[in-house]
Amino acid sequence: MITDPIPPDFMTGELMPPESIPGAMLESIDDEHCIEVEYPVILAPIREYHRYKVLYGGRGGGKSHTIAIELLLRGVKDPLRILCAREVQKSIKQSVHQLLSDYIQKLELSAFYEILDTEIRGCNGTVFNFAGLAGNTVDGLKSYEGADICWVEEAQTVSSRSWQILTPTIRKEGSMIWISFNPFMELDPTYLRFVVNPPAGAWVQRVNWSDNPWFSDELEKERQHCMIADPDNYANIWEGECKGASDMQFITTPSVRESMERSPIYNGTDPLICGVDLARGGGDDCFIVFRRGRDCKSERVYKIGGEASRNSMRVVALLVQLFRDHRPDQINADEGSMGGPIVDRLNQLNWQVTGISFGSRALDQKHWANRGTEMWAKMREWINTGGALPKDERLVSELTCREFGHDNKDRVILESKKKMKADGKPSPDFADAVALTFAVEVASIERGHKDDIPGLRHNDTHDYDPLDAL
Ligand SMILES: Nc1ncnc2c1ncn2[C@@H]1O[C@H](COP(=O)(O)OP(=O)(O)O)[C@@H](O)[C@H]1O
Ligand SMILES: [Mg+2]
Repeated sequence: MITDPIPPDFMTGELMPPESIPGAMLESIDDEHCIEVEYPVILAPIREYHRYKVLYGGRGGGKSHTIAIELLLRGVKDPLRILCAREVQKSIKQSVHQLLSDYIQKLELSAFYEILDTEIRGCNGTVFNFAGLAGNTVDGLKSYEGADICWVEEAQTVSSRSWQILTPTIRKEGSMIWISFNPFMELDPTYLRFVVNPPAGAWVQRVNWSDNPWFSDELEKERQHCMIADPDNYANIWEGECKGASDMQFITTPSVRESMERSPIYNGTDPLICGVDLARGGGDDCFIVFRRGRDCKSERVYKIGGEASRNSMRVVALLVQLFRDHRPDQINADEGSMGGPIVDRLNQLNWQVTGISFGSRALDQKHWANRGTEMWAKMREWINTGGALPKDERLVSELTCREFGHDNKDRVILESKKKMKADGKPSPDFADAVALTFAVEVASIERGHKDDIPGLRHNDTHDYDPLDAL
């Protein structure tokens, strides 16, 4: 990027004759001093005036770095007020403050820019501010009315409301809005507004890894890995393609069908784990499933229909009966809403039942927005890596109709049950019971003999009628 160690000691500096490098773009600070920087060729118009500059595409295209460099150079040349915005900015750490600071170092601009905790100031009066849009009101953003350039980074999450407030705020004559993002859904407000229907005066450029001459070996390894490990998301993450609606399916239909055709395989030492999804009243059913390692097929599945589940003491009695019959090593039950008192009662009866709340925090909070999503993700991995599911059409639709998105920390979050219901989708009671068997890690169990495994081996067809079975 910096092609020559030119000392940009622009305050006192000395003249360095620019070398002519193909593709290099030369920026002079004043008549005497130059900093030489290069941009991906496709991004050359970044140097021009456009009311809107829209850079979108997959990871590693050079969008963020190119904008950061260009803004720093412009700020050196002229005193500018630059607002760096994003939809959610809970702390300065989430902003491009760090990226700008890194380039101040690399471009040897430390004598010019002063890096403060929440601001970056140039000695000519240039100032960079950082703000989140989601939490801001019209009045809150008013203070940025004098901005010359507003850079909206990670703009795929910016809402219509935020655009409606921001766009008129950046109103100074000659002011610009620069936007960088990795598209997600075609119907996202940012994509509609700037790619599908761009405003007059917009330069809209798609840019991908293949356009970036500095695409590193590390990024290339990541890209190759994604192609194999996450082919469903590859085109979105790396090629900047929007995801279609069906791409939002959390678990794919072929993977479920394949899992249902598998013969169950288990090790003698695999613990038998019971998942109990307790009914929330209404039309929901209570489901009880058993899983031993990769085998979720051999033990019988039980359903207690909506009406029968209304009497919670009756449910407790039925559960105790099942625990006695199957002798699971671990029992996980949904303790949200209706479930809590049932779990309490079972524990009081000396059955060690682990209460799990789908809405609580995930064990791995970096990747999953809540415990429910985390369990479903483990279940999905298990389905994709040899797990055998009972053959059941209700389970197929429950597993495959659920969509997912990302929360404001970019973690995966499953579509809520409320929204599923509103969209006319089935309540995922059976699928949740299977997911509950993934709630906690359970150690292998030494039983001596494989034949020692408790519980019956049914291998039945699963046209179950649990009340009948009891
Ligand atoms: N103008 C540039 N000069 C030098 N390196 C760059 C430039 N643009 C991008 N890079 C390199 O390419 C990598 C990916 O660029 P980045 O801006 O993070 O891509 P994007 O924002 O499109 O995901 C960066 O980590 C950086 O090393
Ligand atoms: Mg980026």
